[in-house]
Parts: sequence; structure tokens; C-alpha cells
Amino acid sequence: MTTRLAVLISGAGSNLQAILDAERTGALDVEVVVVVCSRPTATGVSRAERVGVPTRVLSLKVFRERGADRGDYDSAVAEALRPFEPELVVLAGWMHILGPEFLSRVRVPVLNLHPALPGEFPGTHAIERAHRAARQEGLARTGVMVHHVVAEVDAGPVVLSEEIPLDPEESLDALEQRVHAVEHRLLVAAIGQVIGQGQSKGRAHAVELPLGLTNVKQ
Ligand code: GRF
Repeated sequence: MTTRLAVLISGAGSNLQAILDAERTGALDVEVVVVVCSRPTATGVSRAERVGVPTRVLSLKVFRERGADRGDYDSAVAEALRPFEPELVVLAGWMHILGPEFLSRVRVPVLNLHPALPGEFPGTHAIERAHRAARQEGLARTGVMVHHVVAEVDAGPVVLSEEIPLDPEESLDALEQRVHAVEHRLLVAAIGQVIGQGQSKGRAHAVELPLGLTNVKQ
């Protein structure tokens, strides 16, 4: 059975594109039913529009200008998803921390993609920080992970992760391209795993799901 997917983005949307391509080719038995974007100027929205996926833009800046607080914004994001009845929510380059007002309203699994290994470089600019650590501290590897979202930033039960060797001589741009290539593949694989479409490359982690949630397909 096809899984209804909501994707949240904030930028160029190359990871969204990987999901849309997997839907189109049948690599994933999913239907992207809505794309929510946090930035009106983000180019990723056009990727959804091009294939007729409904989009919603919710700018925190605009909410704040109207006197709304963070909780209002988070619950508005959750309410934007409700009419589309997603069975799985994927944060694919979504750049806001989603708090209890969101997590308490969205009662389906919520996955996040983070360009670092579990427990490493939480927050923003993770690729840049790993690049600097390779040059300044001899860090040998970084990675990518897909995890279930919990209140703590870039933490929560990991679905899949994959290590990426670091080269202190490599440019940041080249490293970013290598990391994005792994992201596109690992995110699709992790979604496949959560919806019960079998094992895939990348280190699998036995997942204890957040309270009350089950894997999408038993
Ligand atoms: C990705 O590297 C993701 O891990 C990070 O933001 C980037 C988004 O890239 N949080 P894109 O918008 O999917 O191209």
C-alpha cells in the first residue's frame, strides 16, 4: 500500500527531489501529498510545483511580524499538514527546530535528515564544522544520519547512518557534494525502511520508536 508522505523543506530541495524521483521510478511506494516550506524564496518549492504536489509556505518571520510566538508557528505547521493526512513526515533540509506544539499534534513518525553522524555536530553548518575539524583536529570521518525526531535537536532514534571519510586537503564545496550524494541515497533508503520496504545500504540501527508511534507498515 502506498504511504502518504509530507516533506518539509527550507532550501534548494535536492533531498526532496531524491524522494520525488524515487516516487516516480517506483523505488519508493510513496505519494508526496504536500510540501511545506519555511522560506518564501526557497527554490525547492518549484520542484514540488513542477510535478503538481500541493505546497504551503509558512515563514516564521511573517508569523513573528504578526505577533505570533514559536508555539503558534509550530502548531500552524502541524495544522497545515492535517488536511493531507500524511502517514509519515520527513524533514528534508527543514531549518527550524520543531517543538512540542508540533510533535504533540503530529501523531505519525517524523524523520529528520542531518549531515553528521549520531551525536556529532548537532545544529546548523554541520558539514562546514566537520570540514574545519578535519583540517584543525585531524578528524578522519563525518557522515549522514536519518533519525526519528524528538524534542532534542538532531537527536532521537537513528534509522540509518553512514560514515564519510574526510580529507583535510579537500575543499568544502567538494565535501558538500559528497555529503549531499550520500544524503540523497540514505534518505530514500531510510524512508523505505520505515515504511517496511526492506533493508538497504548504510548502517541500520535497531529503532525504539517514540512513545505511541509504530512503524508505518507492520
Ligand atoms: C541538507 O544537507 C540537509 O542535511 C541539511 O540542509 C541541506 C538541505 O539540502 N539540513 P537540500 O535543500 O535538500 O538541497
